[in-house]
Amino acid sequence: MRIKSPAKINLGLEVLRRRKDAFHDLSSIMLAIELCDEVRVCSGGHAEIFEQHDEFSRSGLTEQALNAYGRSARVKTKPNASVKKLIPIAAGLGGGSSNAALVLSAANHLSGHALSDSELADVASLVGSDVPFFLSGGCALVGGRGEIRKRDLPIPNVWILLANPGVELSTPDVFRELDNSEFTSGARTSVLAASLAAGQPQWNLLHNGLQAASERLCPPIREMLVALRVHTPWTLLSGSGATCFGIFEIEEAALAAEKDLAKAGYWTWAGRPMDRWTITDLRI
Ligand code: C5P
Repeated sequence: MRIKSPAKINLGLEVLRRRKDAFHDLSSIMLAIELCDEVRVCSGGHAEIFEQHDEFSRSGLTEQALNAYGRSARVKTKPNASVKKLIPIAAGLGGGSSNAALVLSAANHLSGHALSDSELADVASLVGSDVPFFLSGGCALVGGRGEIRKRDLPIPNVWILLANPGVELSTPDVFRELDNSEFTSGARTSVLAASLAAGQPQWNLLHNGLQAASERLCPPIREMLVALRVHTPWTLLSGSGATCFGIFEIEEAALAAEKDLAKAGYWTWAGRPMDRWTITDLRI
């Protein structure tokens, strides 16, 4: 089974507090976008021949997801998975989490739904904080360490430009770099979520509590944001970075900005958000 594995951006991300389990409580708005990896999954057993293709490779997080799935669903033979990467890695776009979630969904589909939706969500949250979001994507307000889907939000009718300076950033390093003074209440994210729900997004409320920490670890982010702001006032770091995005209401403006940032040497992608999905919507 071949499936698309979409990336995400965070329209809002507030870090509320450090927890005893070494994670942080967050309030965040996640939005799936049409930038996709491709995942291949086949059920285990002798009947299936697992082909490795040059551009496909196995990944640590998808192997972890399959092991967790095998333990929970008690399938006799572990399914196989490989990924063709197009989403930059360690970039704040959730590529690895997306791959893991869609491998879980595909494995469950191939098993004839050995696990219920809520059991699958439990397995997903064991694999990673962002993994449950990617079981259905779309746009959502999330809480906890990122694994609790609190509210579905409508998909904003905008164009998104991504830019990345070509530096990988480790999520744990960014969280470690956070200062207690950078923790906030979550109020800004709630207001932004309410504006999205009302169909009138207040883009001036875009906010990422990890941005200052990411910029300290990766100074090129600041210069890249300056280049993005030439084209739109609505710019932000996604997740723990180093990818940043700009929001555009007009396609031509997004494409013109993309040309400019690509010329300056940044990795770029311009496209649309992606609606909520089920595994069959993502089949190739
Ligand atoms: O959940 P995930 O495996 O993606 O998290 C990777 C690391 O990022 C965690 O081990 C932790 O250091 C940090 N993290 C955090 N708070 C979160 C999510 C992630 O501190 N809410």
